[in-house]
Amino acid sequence: MTTETNWFTKAVFYEVLVRTFADSNGDGVGDMQGLTSKLDYLQWLGVDCLWLPPFFSSPLRDGGYDVADYTNVLPEFGTIEDTRALIAAVHGRGMRIIIDFVMNHTSSAHPWFQASRTDPTGPYGDFYVWRDEPDEYLDARIIFIDTIDSNWSFDEVRGQYYWHRFFDHQPDLNFENPRVFEEIQDALRFWLAMGVDGFRLDAVPYLIEQDGTDCENLPGTHALLKRVRAMVEEEYPGRILLCEANQWPQEVIPYFGDGDECQLAFHFPVMPRMYMALAREDKTCLVDIIAATPPLPPGTQWGTFLRNHDELTLEMVTPAERDFMWDFYAPEPRMKCNLGIRRRLAPLVDGDVQRIKLLHALLLALPGSPVLYYGDEIGMGDNIWLQDRDGVRTPMQWDNSPGAGFSTADPSTFPFPIVDSPGFTQDVVNVEAQLDDPDSLLHWLQRTLSVRRELEALALGDFVDLEGDNAAVYVVARQWGDQRVIAAFNFSASAQTATLTPGAFDPESVHVLVGGAAFGDHEGAPTMTLASHGFAWLVAR
Ligand code: NOJ
Repeated sequence: MTTETNWFTKAVFYEVLVRTFADSNGDGVGDMQGLTSKLDYLQWLGVDCLWLPPFFSSPLRDGGYDVADYTNVLPEFGTIEDTRALIAAVHGRGMRIIIDFVMNHTSSAHPWFQASRTDPTGPYGDFYVWRDEPDEYLDARIIFIDTIDSNWSFDEVRGQYYWHRFFDHQPDLNFENPRVFEEIQDALRFWLAMGVDGFRLDAVPYLIEQDGTDCENLPGTHALLKRVRAMVEEEYPGRILLCEANQWPQEVIPYFGDGDECQLAFHFPVMPRMYMALAREDKTCLVDIIAATPPLPPGTQWGTFLRNHDELTLEMVTPAERDFMWDFYAPEPRMKCNLGIRRRLAPLVDGDVQRIKLLHALLLALPGSPVLYYGDEIGMGDNIWLQDRDGVRTPMQWDNSPGAGFSTADPSTFPFPIVDSPGFTQDVVNVEAQLDDPDSLLHWLQRTLSVRRELEALALGDFVDLEGDNAAVYVVARQWGDQRVIAAFNFSASAQTATLTPGAFDPESVHVLVGGAAFGDHEGAPTMTLASHGFAWLVAR
């Protein structure tokens, strides 16, 4: 493991669900030991840092984002000792690990909530946001529109309403009570002391409420995050905070603070636009969002991604763009979920390996640290008929056995069934088969990540749009010191030629590192011709 403090600015992250990655004890549920046994694979792939969504005690009514005990592991997933061993094994390989932390709310099964509802004047009485009437904060939007119709729910036991930004079983914590922050801080310390390299902070825009506002991104929320960062900096310097704020760039930039809030923040708006550019065969939406992204404060980085454990969120597009995305990528009503799409990357592009590669090559060349999602490296499918967002959380397909190599248990006991849609079953899509095939998507991604590792320009470099004359072809340059990498992407299904400005590069000096293109000269201006959905990373003078 490097001791560089800016490691996260050039790291490749990998989101992995403990529950469905690998089962070590044959009970049908993935666990810490199972994940530990797969670290060689992840290291080989080129992963620098794991991100584990919540694995704490939980009723699992929201994939573990309904936490019932911040400092314990759900027994099905293993023990604290197993987790300590996982962290040690990760570090032993020179990799890192961050974990989710849900500050905004707990599960209603959390003992704090149980105490709060039964003993209003007791020590936990004020841990949540209780009111006699549900008449405050009415300008706050509803996030899970498929499931809830109010952010207030009535609790029969206490006889009052409680506030929740997500499901009604996820009451929001009351950060107006200083004891809440102290408890959260202690829970953060618990995992820091165990050695995690940082946290993905869940749902941060909603920490503080204020009547008459939309209750998002309020000054009090930033003040809390500054206190978290100050504690981390003081007690565990170098550990990172990755902010989950599904917001426009100008609202996200403040979450970096003056270098005193989060080091990383997801760039939500860029994600759907990668798919939109592909669908429209036109780069314009991508060009515009990158141009609208303010510069990062020093020492910070975007987190970029193609997919994750949630729906492909369409919150950060216009209503017309959302309709376009739904029409194109969610032709069946069941594919829609909240303001998004409940599908994985590979099915979104009809399992077309060329388009999966194009999107990855793009992700890895745009500014930001890429965050991969388990299974996408082999083009895993989904199951839109599972509840909520579970269809993108199915067991990892390691081999073509009945349990897909995920578990030796009877598959009917798995948390979710293995994907059974044609073209995506484990006999077609699995790690073992792709390891055996040097031309597989998996090998391509492994090679591409190893090329990227040598190209600091792709991680850290300045970003320049080379403004080719063809709307279907996006050509960008990344420059870091002497290193200049040009990356080109053809969003069209047909071969395309782009002419760049004279002097953009010398077509005689091109060295292609990934993908392929043909180069020429048109009246003194360099040209590039890319095949259908083709792409190339190159160096040139
Ligand atoms: C964001 C998480 O990504 C999502 O899975 C979860 O349901 C909500 N936050 C609520 O915690």
